[in-house]
Amino acid sequence: MAAFDRTPDAVARAPGRVNLLGEHTDYNDGFVLPIALPQQTTVAVGRAASGLFTLRSDGFARPLRFSLDRLPDEPFGRYVFGCIREVVAAGHAVPALDMHVASELPMGVGLSSSAALEVATLRALRALLALPIDDIRIAQLAQRAEIDYAGVRCGIMDQMASSLADTGHALFLDARTLATRRWPLPTGAAVLVLDSGVPRSLVTSGFNQRRGECEEACRRLGVASLRDIRRVEQVEALPEPWRRRARHVVNENARVLHAVESGDVETLGQLMNASHVSLRDDYEVSIVELDQLVSLLQEHPAVHGAKLTGAGFGGACVAVCAADRIGEVAVEVLGDYRRLGGRGRLLAPPALLA
Ligand code: GLA
Repeated sequence: MAAFDRTPDAVARAPGRVNLLGEHTDYNDGFVLPIALPQQTTVAVGRAASGLFTLRSDGFARPLRFSLDRLPDEPFGRYVFGCIREVVAAGHAVPALDMHVASELPMGVGLSSSAALEVATLRALRALLALPIDDIRIAQLAQRAEIDYAGVRCGIMDQMASSLADTGHALFLDARTLATRRWPLPTGAAVLVLDSGVPRSLVTSGFNQRRGECEEACRRLGVASLRDIRRVEQVEALPEPWRRRARHVVNENARVLHAVESGDVETLGQLMNASHVSLRDDYEVSIVELDQLVSLLQEHPAVHGAKLTGAGFGGACVAVCAADRIGEVAVEVLGDYRRLGGRGRLLAPPALLA
């Protein structure tokens, strides 16, 4: 890495992710189906001569300096700071470090650049300090760092995907037990990720509000989590907005289980399309531009299914399409989106950008 002006003592990488199915289910103890992206974040670390941490990034002109007793003002630094603090809280001493971050992941579009940064940071600390923590523990520490120091009450999907998933398989995750199974993409299918070009807004506030609404729905239903509701009829008597929020979660969990059991690409596609409708109408986390881009994808004959991905409120959408026509889909759909006034771009697979 260009700006790391010494030989690092440890280097680690972690990927971003895109979620195929199971949106806003993880913090309801439910099921998700993310897949790792080829784009990664790299963190290099070396023991510092001074008593301060120094964080450099290809994306920032000036280094950030911090000690462990004061939260950095810079949001980017908070993720790294949070990871170090979680490792210390788990009982491991961490010396002052020179750190350098380089990322291939665009930030703020819903590809979990923050989870990739957290997991790469924790992997670098594990390598440097020979920490006895496995990949699931890394995901748990990363999630805690995000909740405690970045203020997003996220679930554990992004960190589990970054820590355990690969690009050839989706990761079927039970967010309650953290049991995982590698789920191969159906033969001949490939994952396309497009950015709507609309920055995600309200992510922190809207996300935490949805999470609060799910907690209220649970309280009214007398269950520990919405995972415990098996039949959607059980939520129909709730007042709004809790009825629609709970209905999305219950149906979305069923969709993930159905897709994983069927293993069939047409079924997966239909379930992704249904997921988008549910995220738009019941969970209310879509925006007009995402709806337009998702519709254009769904109308393309080489696309099996498409939906928004991640938290919503802007950012990216994901499609599963015929692998041999993926370039054609990207060009045609982005062209049509431009004619509607949108400014989208291709996010993955990055090979198509070359
Ligand atoms: C964000 C959160 C995840 C998950 C998704 C929605 O990415 O970090 O935990 O809740 O939104 O599925």
